[in-house]
Amino acid sequence: MNALFPDGFRWGAATAAYQIEGAATEDGRTPSIWDTFSRTPGKVRNGDTGDIAADHYHRVREDVALMKDLGLTDYRFSLSWSRVQPTGRGPAVQKGLDFYRGLADELLEAGIRPVATLYHWDLPQELEDAGGWPERATAERFAEYAGLAAEALGDRITTWTTLNEPWCAAFLGYGSGVHAPGRTDDAAALRAAHHLNLAHGLAAQALRAAVPASAELSLTLNLHAIRALSDSPEDRDAARRIDAVGNRIFLDPVFHGRLPADLVEDTAGITDWSFVRDGDLEVTSTPIDSLGVNYYAPTVVGAGVSDSPSPWPGAPDRVRFEPAPGPRTAMGWSVDADGLYELLVRLRDELPGVPLLITENGAAYDDYADPEGEVHDPERVAYVEAHLAAAHRALSDGVDLRGYFLWSLLDNFEWAYGYGKRFGIVHVDFASQRRTPKDSARWYAEVIRRGGLAR
Ligand code: FCB
Repeated sequence: MNALFPDGFRWGAATAAYQIEGAATEDGRTPSIWDTFSRTPGKVRNGDTGDIAADHYHRVREDVALMKDLGLTDYRFSLSWSRVQPTGRGPAVQKGLDFYRGLADELLEAGIRPVATLYHWDLPQELEDAGGWPERATAERFAEYAGLAAEALGDRITTWTTLNEPWCAAFLGYGSGVHAPGRTDDAAALRAAHHLNLAHGLAAQALRAAVPASAELSLTLNLHAIRALSDSPEDRDAARRIDAVGNRIFLDPVFHGRLPADLVEDTAGITDWSFVRDGDLEVTSTPIDSLGVNYYAPTVVGAGVSDSPSPWPGAPDRVRFEPAPGPRTAMGWSVDADGLYELLVRLRDELPGVPLLITENGAAYDDYADPEGEVHDPERVAYVEAHLAAAHRALSDGVDLRGYFLWSLLDNFEWAYGYGKRFGIVHVDFASQRRTPKDSARWYAEVIRRGGLAR
């Protein structure tokens, strides 16, 4: 049976600025929290930093040519705030804008639609020094930056995503501290989550004012496909808690203009939420045109206790996490495409009329180039195939799914794991910066050419 996707389905690949660009100190760029964090001993494996990364800043043409060979219709990348508006204040820097203008032009020339994310975790360090995401002012700064970027690039870039995975920015950054800026303060993490929602809404307004009416505004969330270990009330309550602080903490303010009442109750021992001001929830629910979903693996929970510091405020003494059964990727994440289907169907039911994009999905494996210079990655092909099949099933069941972006185009700096985890469909030899399309790249090109899976 073939699983063909509708005409106009967007076939993409995704990257993020700090993970691929390098050129960390060039053309006026100032440090972001990831520059600082990666230089802090013990935070990133092997002491890796994004100083050079995949050197994409200097290899844009080659990289866009690779995308064209793959037949991508869309390319999702992020802008480095510290490159566009160093230090997070004041006017935009021409050279920073020129880089993204050049990238957009190369893409358009190649017939590929640019899909730009304004924030993929790299807050200018000066804004963190002023308090970072737990402070309201950071949301206001972000809206200003969004306006600057949109003014300069809105003629070329027509799909704009405000934030990538605010859950990670708030809870890994300020809760468990495994991501930059590495703080471990539950109250600060909850404040950060609200201010990220506010930043999203303010930026959506700034973008709307600056870009053509036909432009598409979006937000990308890493929604958790949650499974309770059993049907017991305790296990079900654990799932509810994680759904509140993992999913509804973003979905409710953004799509319904409210805070989940159970979340406020679960976290009452941590904060009274008085930082949410009158009118904020109207701003957070500024209408947008689509929702991006990043999905890798399901989250299996039951009643119990988990490690501290935890990225789940209000949950560690009530919830334990279990690995899902079955095969795992090199990240230790389980391979379970049903979770993607479950998420998409849930969003179909809860957010009728909101078009969806899968803005990230993919897998890390221990890839290497063989003596012939080839990279065989059958597990990645199987992973993506299973998830595309799940996406197709969701489409057949009435989900308004508009596109799929594979994470990632290139092997890159995988945050706290450094260069040790390879997610690319194109292998990067970081010593020579040589790019080698893996078998999965060729396979994906064929999927795109065919418009889906032939099975
Ligand atoms: C997501 C991030 C992305 C990448 C993948 C593996 O959470 O958005 O940058 O690290 O995970």
